[in-house]
Amino acid sequence: MRHLMSPLDFSVEELDRLLDLANDIEKHPDKYSHVCAGKKLATCFYEPSTRTRLSFEAAMLNLGGSVLGFSDAGSSSAAKGESVSDTIRVISCYADICAIRHPKEGAALVASQKSLIPVINAGDGGHQHPTQTLTDLLTIRSLKGRLSDLTIGLCGDLKFGRTVHSLINALIRYENVRFVLISPEELRIPSYIRDDVLRAHQIEFKEVERLEDAMTGLDVLYMTRVQRERFFNEEEYIRLKDFYILTKAKMELAKPDMLVLHPLPRVNEISVEVDEDPRAAYFKQAQYGVYVRMALILTLLGIHAE
Ligand code: NCD
Repeated sequence: MRHLMSPLDFSVEELDRLLDLANDIEKHPDKYSHVCAGKKLATCFYEPSTRTRLSFEAAMLNLGGSVLGFSDAGSSSAAKGESVSDTIRVISCYADICAIRHPKEGAALVASQKSLIPVINAGDGGHQHPTQTLTDLLTIRSLKGRLSDLTIGLCGDLKFGRTVHSLINALIRYENVRFVLISPEELRIPSYIRDDVLRAHQIEFKEVERLEDAMTGLDVLYMTRVQRERFFNEEEYIRLKDFYILTKAKMELAKPDMLVLHPLPRVNEISVEVDEDPRAAYFKQAQYGVYVRMALILTLLGIHAE
């Protein structure tokens, strides 16, 4: 039995196969519409979510399976003090696979150790978000045609943004990928990524504060929201929340084929006028999230279409 805790749980070859499968699902959805008949996905969400939970549910429904779960810890027995370990043991009796999101780093891992069914980490605190990374990889590979030879700008809350941590971990395995880390001083990438991942693997990167200074050389600009819920004090959040706003004027500095990605939800960091720009790919990215989660469910359940 396999779980997904981090994007590194798959080898590069396995990831390639998963992304190929997602592209095939996109092209031939009918081929996959009943393959999970009789299977159930549980979504256990202890933290707010729109895309991740609903795209998981849409993915299982598209495969002909069913879904059950909770979207709020307050409506589950967590409110009565039940541990994640006990909850997952019980969910194992009701479902075939489980996606879990929790505010505590490592919660999905704890769940996986007690689980009798595959567990997918759908976000654990400020730590990792591997299925968003699968979504990001599929989007970049589908729209740019490659995952190597890329200069990737990551902008915003690089400290608390789990999508950024997972994406860097995944992308360093491809050839000739460079990073421009764009953040205010207070929200710089944590040292467990800067030193233990980027420096340790001799990956080229630079850290800058101004988005304008980074725009011209980028193949992909990955914008992120300032993660209000991870701040210790509201004043600090208010001071930093509008530090970056991507506008039409800033887009003029970028390459004509640069992709703008964002895991969403967006707050103010991308002006709505940018949505009309053909380089804005964040809504397409949300669609790719369904295909890749369909591919992931099939892979972890060991189900083949033919
Ligand atoms: C992200 C998350 O939950 O980390 N959202 C998502 O899953 N698409 C990003 C965010 O909340 O800012």
